[in-house]
Amino acid sequence: MEVVIVPDAKAGGELIAEAIGALLSRKPDALLGVATGSTPLPIYQALAAKVRSGAVDASRARICQLDEYVGLPAGHPESYRSVVLREVIEPLGLSEASFMGPDGAAEDVRAACLAYDKALAEAGGVDLQLLGIGTDGHIGFNEPCSSLASRTRIKTLTEQTRIDNARFFDNDITQVPHHVITQGIGTILESRHPILLATGEGKADAVARTVEGPVASFVPASALQLHPHATVVVDEAAASKLKLADYFRATYAAKPAWQGL
Ligand code: PGA
Repeated sequence: MEVVIVPDAKAGGELIAEAIGALLSRKPDALLGVATGSTPLPIYQALAAKVRSGAVDASRARICQLDEYVGLPAGHPESYRSVVLREVIEPLGLSEASFMGPDGAAEDVRAACLAYDKALAEAGGVDLQLLGIGTDGHIGFNEPCSSLASRTRIKTLTEQTRIDNARFFDNDITQVPHHVITQGIGTILESRHPILLATGEGKADAVARTVEGPVASFVPASALQLHPHATVVVDEAAASKLKLADYFRATYAAKPAWQGL
């Protein structure tokens, strides 16, 4: 996998927004998989600025969701559908019609998972999948020991993830759902270009285990080592435990600009 070390979160957001812009100029109706959480926000801000300035035309982009809480009432402000509408769809000037996601309020959750996995394939597959990483190494909500071949399905969150996400629920862990629907690791690996962004010292361990550790379901993000075109963008703090940091820096510095990410 390619590891790109950037000075800070803003630079990471700018770099990835540029890659999305390049994709949209090649393929205006690209299917862009978006992640939630705090980390990807600088990407969405940078991309929206490019759309506003006319540097990027996102008018035909299609957006799809990575994961969703189960059981939050429709329209709950912290459902990932609401978050993506607020942080991505509206700032990019897109309509809800360009947006697909799993139905976290479905009565038959299993059927909703199967339907979403199928819908992604029928839409032609995800062209570029943005990912964050949990402090426990999860991607999407594939918690440690998720099958590396998993498809979209229901998962139970670890206590650590629920603690990490309580900040979105008035710091009240009792409000954080226990269950989620997430694209599986096998589903994520079918995207044409997964790009993981990690920022801050709190992610340094998970990043080192993802990039330099063995491929293991205990560190779900390490499955990206199996993808022929995976990119990991990290700021200096998140890169601080990488043994090969100098090599990654030198490699990227020498990379021809036309290659992009
Ligand atoms: P964060 O979440 O960006 O809010 O740290 C990342 C994740 O859990 O995937």
